[in-house]
Amino acid sequence: MKPSASRIFVTRIIPDRALKVLYEAFGRRSVHVAPQDGAIARADLLAGVRGANALLAILTDVIDAEVMDAAGPGLKIVANMAVGYNNVDVDAATRRRIAVSNTPGVLTETTADCAWALMMAAARRLGEGERLLRAGQWAGWGPMMLLGMDVHGKTLGIFGMGRIGQAMARRAAGFDMRVIYHDVSPMPPEQEAALRATYVDKPTLLRESDFISIHCPLLPETRHAFGKAEFDAMKPTAVLVNTSRGPVVDEAALARALQDGAIFAAGLDVYEDEPNIHPDLPACQNAVLIPHLGSASLETRSRMAEIAARNIVARLRGEVPPNCVNPEAL
Ligand code: GLV
Repeated sequence: MKPSASRIFVTRIIPDRALKVLYEAFGRRSVHVAPQDGAIARADLLAGVRGANALLAILTDVIDAEVMDAAGPGLKIVANMAVGYNNVDVDAATRRRIAVSNTPGVLTETTADCAWALMMAAARRLGEGERLLRAGQWAGWGPMMLLGMDVHGKTLGIFGMGRIGQAMARRAAGFDMRVIYHDVSPMPPEQEAALRATYVDKPTLLRESDFISIHCPLLPETRHAFGKAEFDAMKPTAVLVNTSRGPVVDEAALARALQDGAIFAAGLDVYEDEPNIHPDLPACQNAVLIPHLGSASLETRSRMAEIAARNIVARLRGEVPPNCVNPEAL
């Protein structure tokens, strides 16, 4: 396809580095960036994508058959600026020979940093401490004040041992933690040995972990993988961290578990119905709640956007995009 004949639609303002890649490959006039700095409205998405050869989407855009059909037969790629792509109907794309790409790798360490920060903050009650201080209610050091849970030397349970789960295991070594994990299958023994991680079944993970950090993708089989039964099976001193996708956790059941003391605390970055959160969660002082910031470092967001742009360039040049998740579409 001639660069000048291309139409690239970007659903939201993204880092400049990515736009530069697109401008250099296709010329400024081919690149159309939705002007709002917020989620694009469905009607604007359907109108903006019309005639596009490439769509650069973010993880909150629902890219389904309707959007692909609105684009028309020229659409060659949906480049998602995220590692997770549960917002894209990949089967519908494959049927239309549209490539779908994601941004794996670059956000691994950044997301693990964020999960680790949530784990520490929830264990040591940093949110509660900060709220107390800002409210002018700190009466001074107290021997019994805001006592939390030690992290070092404890057992970290990792649910989903992909790249980010493994990055958590590496961090755990520095805190002298025992690492157990659960996934659909164990890692090869050399990898387990390198990460000093032991495969366990889910009941063991729930029973033995002091901290559980969720790193699985959202799939039909992982939806509500953590609900009342799981919280009841966890230690009352346990801390749950979720930086994967909100629907992996039953938020209403989690709010109840936090209120009833079924578990000690939670650190959440993702929610079932973003940007809405369950109305009982904000009242849970033992929940550290942040707004989907897992990959939100300046460096990483720029790299993610650039990767999405480079996948578009490759596809429109007739190559297989480097991060294509459905190569069978081509
Ligand atoms: C962020 O949540 C991502 O999937 O990249």
